[in-house]
Amino acid sequence: MEYRIEVHTNGDVHTIMAASGTNLLDVLKDMGILLYTPCGGKGTCGKCSVRVDSDIAGPSEEERRLLGVKAGKGFRLACRLNIDSDMRVYVDDLREQASIITAGTRKRVVLDPLVRKRFVELSPPSLEDQRPDLERVLAVAGMSGTDNGTAIMDLAGRGVGTRLLKGLPDVLRRSGYRITLVEAGNNLISVEAEDTTPALYGTALDIGTTTVAAYLYDLSSGELLNVRSMMNPQRKFGADVISRIDYAKKSQQAADEMRKIIAEGINDLIKQLADEAGIDQGDIYAAVFSGNTTMLHFLAGFDASGIAVSPFIPVTCRAVHMSAAELGITVNDNGYCLILPCVSAYIGADTVSAVIASGMHDSSGISLLVDIGTNGEIVLGGRDGLMACSTAAGPAFEGANIRFGMGGVTGAVDSFTLPGFKYTVIGGTAAKGICGSGTVDAIAALLDAGAIDETGALAENSGAAGLPYEIRSRFTETDGMKSFVLVPAQETVGDEPITITQKDIREIQNAKAAVAAGIETLISTAGISYGDIEKVYLAGGFGSTIHIQSAARIGLLPRQLADRVEAIGNASGSGASECLLSRKVQVIAEEIAGRIRYIELSASRIFTEKYVENMLFG
Ligand code: FES
Repeated sequence: MEYRIEVHTNGDVHTIMAASGTNLLDVLKDMGILLYTPCGGKGTCGKCSVRVDSDIAGPSEEERRLLGVKAGKGFRLACRLNIDSDMRVYVDDLREQASIITAGTRKRVVLDPLVRKRFVELSPPSLEDQRPDLERVLAVAGMSGTDNGTAIMDLAGRGVGTRLLKGLPDVLRRSGYRITLVEAGNNLISVEAEDTTPALYGTALDIGTTTVAAYLYDLSSGELLNVRSMMNPQRKFGADVISRIDYAKKSQQAADEMRKIIAEGINDLIKQLADEAGIDQGDIYAAVFSGNTTMLHFLAGFDASGIAVSPFIPVTCRAVHMSAAELGITVNDNGYCLILPCVSAYIGADTVSAVIASGMHDSSGISLLVDIGTNGEIVLGGRDGLMACSTAAGPAFEGANIRFGMGGVTGAVDSFTLPGFKYTVIGGTAAKGICGSGTVDAIAALLDAGAIDETGALAENSGAAGLPYEIRSRFTETDGMKSFVLVPAQETVGDEPITITQKDIREIQNAKAAVAAGIETLISTAGISYGDIEKVYLAGGFGSTIHIQSAARIGLLPRQLADRVEAIGNASGSGASECLLSRKVQVIAEEIAGRIRYIELSASRIFTEKYVENMLFG
C-alpha cells in the first residue's frame, strides 16, 4: 500500500508516494531533502525534527524527551517515524542555509599549473611523409613514444591514450593540422583543434566531513573565478567519519552509494562554478582534492574500514592521480585529477594543505596550527621539523550532542555576551538554536559571571544567591536537567527558550580538554614552552568564527598564546588551490606529508594526564 506524502520546504511543495512502513527520513533523503542528522538516523540525537500536520499516532516517550516542547507542537523525529498514512510534512532543508567559510589565505604563487596548453602547427602528411598521426603529434610535442610504445597515457598510465587516439584523425584534419596540445607534466592528455590556449581552467576542492568547498581558477592567469560550497551530502549517513565508515562497511552497494553521492555533489558544485563563470565544463582540465583521509578514501572508492579500528590503517596516504573519467568527475574526460597526500588515518590532506597555506613549514620560527572540527588536528613546528596529532574532540563544537546545538546556519546564535544577554543570530532571524561559537561564548560568559564554577558545574538556583538577579532568574530545567536560559522563549522561532544544559557544558568540557591536551602533548613532546611559539594559526570554519578571548577563557586555546592567533579560514582549500596553480607546491605537499611526524594520542600517557588536567575551567 502507498501513501501520499506532501513535503513543504523552503516555500516549495513536493509530493511523493511512499510505501507503507517506509521511514520518513529515507523518503526525504530520496527526495534530495537533507536534514541535520548528527546521529545518522539512529534516533538518539533529536535533531531531525519535522512538523507533521496529519492525524497520526503521537510520539513515544523517548521521542517526546528528545523533542522537548516541540513534541506538543506537532513535531516528530523523521528517523523515528514510519509512514502509515497520508502526511503533510514541513521541513527546513539545510542546503540553502549553510554559511560555509570558503575564504582563506591567498599567497602569490608562481604560476606553473598542473595542466598546460600549447598551440602547434604540424606539417601535413604526404607520400614523402607517411608517419602515423600519433608520431606526427609526438614529434612536435617533444615525446619519443618509446615508453612501451605508449607515450600517451594518463598519469596512472592507462586510459587516456585510447580516447585521445580515437578522436585524433578528426581533430588533425578538421583543424588543418593546427592543434592545441594539453599536457599534464610529461604526459599528453588531450589534443584540441585550433588554438584553444586561453580556455584552460582548473578546480580545487576541499571535502570536509560537514562541508565541501570548491574554487574555480583560470589556469592561464591564475585568477580565482568563482567559489561555491555545499553541505557534504554524505551527512545523511552520520555526522562523523566513523558512522559513515560503518555504513559503507555494510555492503559493496553501501560503499558504492557513499562514493556516488559525494561524486554527484561535487559534479553539481562544478557545474554551478562553471555556469556562473560562463565557461564550458569541458575546458576544466585539472581538479585537485584536499580533505580528511576518510573523505578522500570515499572519493577514490577505496575501502576506508581500516581507518575506523585500531591500529587505524588507511589504504594509502600517497598522492593519488586519476583521470576525471575514472573518478567520475564531470570536467573534461581526459582531465587530470590529483588527490593530495595524507599523513595518517587521522591527519589528512586537509592538514597538509593547511600547513602549506599557513607557510609554517617554511618558517624558521615555531608555529602551532589548530583545525577544530569533529576531530581537532594540531601541527607544531617549522622549517626544522613538524609533528602532528589528532584529537577526538567530537562534534560538540558543530552543535551535535548539544541540546539546542546546530551548525553555523541561519537561525543559529553565533555570539553571546554578558552582562545584558546580548547575542547575534546568523541571518538576522529569530533564534532557532546555538552553534559552536555561540556555545563557547556562552560558557565563557557564564564562567566570568560565576554561574559555572571551575569544575564545570552550573550553580544551583538556590545556591546562586550571590549572583545578580538577571543571572539568578535564568536558571531553569530542561529535560529534567539543570540548565540556563540564554535566549527567552519569546525571542525564538519555536517559542521555546534556548538553554545550555549541564550536559552541554560537560560535552564542551570534554571537547576542549581533548584539544588543549593535544596541544600540550605536542609541546611537551617537542620539549618547548609556550614562549617558544611565535604564531598560532586557526584553520577551518569554526576557527574563523570563534571569538579568541572566549576560546582562551574556556581553555580551548592556551591563554598565553591568545595574542598570537591568526585565523586563516579554509586553509585546506587555500593549500589545494596552491597545488593546482603550482607543480612546485604539489611537490612540497608530498614533502610535507612525508616529514610530518605523527603522534598517536591513544597510546600517549602524556595526553591522558593533560586531558584530565584540562577538564577543569581555569
Ligand atoms: S534523532 Fe533522527 S537523526 Fe538523530
